[in-house]
Amino acid sequence: MSNPVYLALDLPQLDAALALAQRVREHVGGIKLGLEFFCAHGHHGVHEIARLGLPLFLDLKLHDIPNTVAGAMQAIRVLEPAIVTVHAAGGRAMMEDAKAAAGEQCKVVAVTLLTSLDGRDLARTGVEGSAHDQVLRLAELARLSGLDGVVCSGHEVAAVHAAWKDGFLVVPGLRLPADGTAAGDQKRTVAPRQARDAGASVLVVGRPISRAADPLAAARAIEATL
Ligand code: C5P
Repeated sequence: MSNPVYLALDLPQLDAALALAQRVREHVGGIKLGLEFFCAHGHHGVHEIARLGLPLFLDLKLHDIPNTVAGAMQAIRVLEPAIVTVHAAGGRAMMEDAKAAAGEQCKVVAVTLLTSLDGRDLARTGVEGSAHDQVLRLAELARLSGLDGVVCSGHEVAAVHAAWKDGFLVVPGLRLPADGTAAGDQKRTVAPRQARDAGASVLVVGRPISRAADPLAAARAIEATL
């Protein structure tokens, strides 16, 4: 089985990002580029990273009217991403159009609820009920819209997997129990192996590799647990 770890390359400098990716490339399965990277370096930056030959995950979290999201999807299609994210809150028509515009080779995955939001934030937007229920509701909407899967936390992945057996599930917020890396702004972390065993298809790992004293050793250590 291929390595499910996608390295989140959240570094502001293109040279540093490229150097890190080159260093660990044999021990990760793909590279995740986020909004920050894309806004700073655009298509040029993506082309530079693509030269490594690893699958690319463009975590752009698209959220707009269906026509605009479909246009954005068409504009990034030339970059041949393996995975792109959209917000499930954009609704069914937006997700259907995003999927149709993405092409056969690209998995389109929905962000359900940002993990930076809690139950109180949700109530303020007028959504009743728990964050967990909202995640499952939006995952079901993504499934009905023909998307490939969703992004969810390691704590939700088992429940989403139970509800969507062949869903392509992307899990961030992962930490090795004994790696000594601070959780940072990730409040509730799980281990990569635990997330994979619960049904994750892709494991997103950023700082445990990028901020490690020895990123290559960290990437190897994570790979060894899988
Ligand atoms: O450094 P760390 O391993 O926490 O990186 C996690 C990556 O996953 C970051 O790029 C972050 O933006 C992304 N992400 C997340 N939580 C979500 C969705 C995406 O941490 N719910």
